[in-house]
Amino acid sequence: MKTMLFLLLCGMTFCLPFNFNRNSVETAAVHHVVPAGDVDTISFSAQIQPILERRCNPCHFPGGKMYQSMPFDRGETVVGHLDGMLKRIKDDKEVGLLKQYCAEQLAR
Ligand code: HEC
Repeated sequence: MKTMLFLLLCGMTFCLPFNFNRNSVETAAVHHVVPAGDVDTISFSAQIQPILERRCNPCHFPGGKMYQSMPFDRGETVVGHLDGMLKRIKDDKEVGLLKQYCAEQLAR
């Protein structure tokens, strides 16, 4: 029972990043920290946006009817709609880039 409570507390600590006790999280999470050099290897503006501009213009770009609700010149849109994007983008290399970009953003 004590073990369960402990695990529950650990879980809660990880779910409350704005409210954490820094010392206890540092001790508990030290093996989960992603080294700074391993993130942000994909550049949204250089590698992702050009794919979308080529394929999803004009609708999801300025002046298009979907720009207001789903702007594809913003990385957050892509991260939030990866599944929907992968219904429309099938090229292996482009799919790989999109997935890796989202994984990196979510790991931040
Ligand atoms: C001709 C205009 C047009 C183009 C080009 C276009 N879209 Fe859209 N898109 C829309 C409209 C309109 C909607 C909202 C209605 C709907 O869901 O179909 C939408 C909705 C979406 C959605 C949310 C709904 C869902 O199915 O998940 C995603 C994701 C999406 N588009 C991705 C893309 C991607 C990726 C491309 C380029 C490969 C693209 N769209 C190109 C007009 C367009």
